[in-house]
Amino acid sequence: MSANIAEMERRREAARMGGGQKRIDAQHAKGKLTARERLDVLLDEGSFEELYTYVEHDCVDFGMQDQKIPGDGVVTGSGTINGRLVYVFSQDFTVFGGSLSKRHAEKICKVMDNAMKVGAPVIGLNDSGGARIQEGVASLGGYAEVFQKNVLASGVVPQLSLIMGPCAGGAVYSPAMTDFIFMVKDSSYMFVTGPDVVKTVTNEEVTQEDLGGAVVHTTKTSVADLALENDIEALLAARELIGFVPESNRDPLPELPTDDPWDRREDSLDTLIPASSNMPY
Ligand code: HXC
Repeated sequence: MSANIAEMERRREAARMGGGQKRIDAQHAKGKLTARERLDVLLDEGSFEELYTYVEHDCVDFGMQDQKIPGDGVVTGSGTINGRLVYVFSQDFTVFGGSLSKRHAEKICKVMDNAMKVGAPVIGLNDSGGARIQEGVASLGGYAEVFQKNVLASGVVPQLSLIMGPCAGGAVYSPAMTDFIFMVKDSSYMFVTGPDVVKTVTNEEVTQEDLGGAVVHTTKTSVADLALENDIEALLAARELIGFVPESNRDPLPELPTDDPWDRREDSLDTLIPASSNMPY
């Protein structure tokens, strides 16, 4: 029995350490928090209930059978924000660049299923290079399942995405379908594929910032809603936003006190939307 408990402790510690201290230090050196540190800031203290901690990938190609990390690059579960229930997943860039394996996808889907069942928002902290290349179509299939959940959850529970690192491929297509998208300036990116792949395929040299930085997506493409200065600001903004949304389509809107007079005129609203439907705004 004690051997089983020791083994569980070993796996729990391995899950906590993700890709190891060197990669955690590299994450910090880029001004980024780790997947678990982010959840500490996002959720009320002590409220996080982790689910599916020990899940590992089942890939046996390219030597992957010898590279298993419990949790498989995503921390999932539920918690509260100012006492209100939310479901969360937080991708761990220190584990294969936060890339999505079939099992990693299953964890995200289960969290979304739980959220739809009980009627609570889903918050995704995205820090992922997209589909895990080593798994080929199995990881692409994983994304198909995640996209399907995004569609089923749309209009049922609020879906909020925080882009907190270089996100590529499916790690962009899925959040792009969610209700609110916040990005972190200078450390988060949303692109179909990264600059190195663009250079190899098209010979075009482009920076991460120009390809899909927070400024591009909040001033030109309108893919994202807000660009925040750093991880902590983005997480605190998410906490604030959750206070304004209903738990689900079965719940009323929360009512919050405001010092904004109800009869204040906002003239910019008259010209915000262009007369021509062909004009972007
Ligand atoms: C497996 C990946 C990975 C991926 C990154 N890594 N992306 N491993 N699958 N998709 C690994 C790297 O090999 C590296 O491992 C570690 O994560 C950190 O990555 P770096 O490249 O060192 O980091 P950085 O320079 O910051 O660049 C991050 C990046 C770049 C911009 C995300 O890694 C990149 O361009 N990755 C590929 C992106 C991509 O094309 N993804 C496929 C998307 S296709 P080591 O061991 O060296 O530290 C897709 C299709 C969905 O998602 C469609 C569904 C139907």
